[in-house]
Amino acid sequence: MKVRVLGSAAGGGFPQWNCNCRNCTGVRRRTLRATPRTQSSIAVCGRDGRSWALINASPDILAQLRASPALQGTAVPRDSAIGAIVLVDGQIDHTAGLLLLRESGRPLAIWCTDEVCADLSHGYPVFGVLAHYCGVERRGIVPDGSRFAIPGVTGVLWRALAVAGKPAPYSPHRDAPVRGDNIALIMEEESSARTIVYAPGVSAMQEDLWQAMQGASAVLVDGTFWSDDEMPALGIAHKRARDLGHLPQSGAGGMLEWLGRLPADSRRILVHVNNTNPILDEDSPQRAELDRRGIEVAWDGLEIEL
Ligand code: MLT
Ligand code: MN
Ligand code: ZN
Repeated sequence: MKVRVLGSAAGGGFPQWNCNCRNCTGVRRRTLRATPRTQSSIAVCGRDGRSWALINASPDILAQLRASPALQGTAVPRDSAIGAIVLVDGQIDHTAGLLLLRESGRPLAIWCTDEVCADLSHGYPVFGVLAHYCGVERRGIVPDGSRFAIPGVTGVLWRALAVAGKPAPYSPHRDAPVRGDNIALIMEEESSARTIVYAPGVSAMQEDLWQAMQGASAVLVDGTFWSDDEMPALGIAHKRARDLGHLPQSGAGGMLEWLGRLPADSRRILVHVNNTNPILDEDSPQRAELDRRGIEVAWDGLEIEL
């Protein structure tokens, strides 16, 4: 099983078009040692080495596919190696790319929970819009930890866990999240039983996710914000990390503490990194702390092979 990080930034990307924070300005002017990043998505390839599942369809999907020749299908005049699309939530940064795949020659096979399906059918009716183009063949995900297989992606077993987080502003449960608004995915290579956990949006650690993380060869987890008050402190927004559905890295109970308790041989990788996060500055003390702790920051094009 292979995982390729297509986009490692949170919503807005890095740099974000209208942002003049230290990071965005620095990377734009090349005065900061930092690498631009596109919005949050990974792809998973099964045993046959040919067909892929796309996890989240970011607004940057076209650039991400151009940078990933392995995802180009070449059997027929118009083709793609993406056999299925899996969504971890219904937010814009994970779903705007669906519209950009409308030229597909067959209905898009989209796996998501009932809650995400409802948001993409009503508040932000992407599925209805796509019905006028290629159409959608929606497949349900029940986020209870039970195993399922995705046809076309061979040799991979999947599990989904409901995680604490926020649904999008157009969700009817924006202010009172329900199970299924946000999920974590566990991908298991059937032949070796080794697993990778993918959880780009988690506002609090919970027992079932923690169990899955402890058994994983690699975890790709929420790296959105360094501190809970990151955006208010920069005068950018009033909301704190946890209010936006993201557990910060620093502080008591933060992601660094959890990652520090994982077995020594597991890879710890932060994904969905917001452009305000100081870890994007490769010369920052926060980045040095990650290095000391053996925690990696995902970059676009990073591949993990089990
Ligand atoms: C989030 O996860 O909070 C999102 O990145 C928000 C967005 O896409 O606007
Ligand atoms: Mn997001
Ligand atoms: Zn910024």
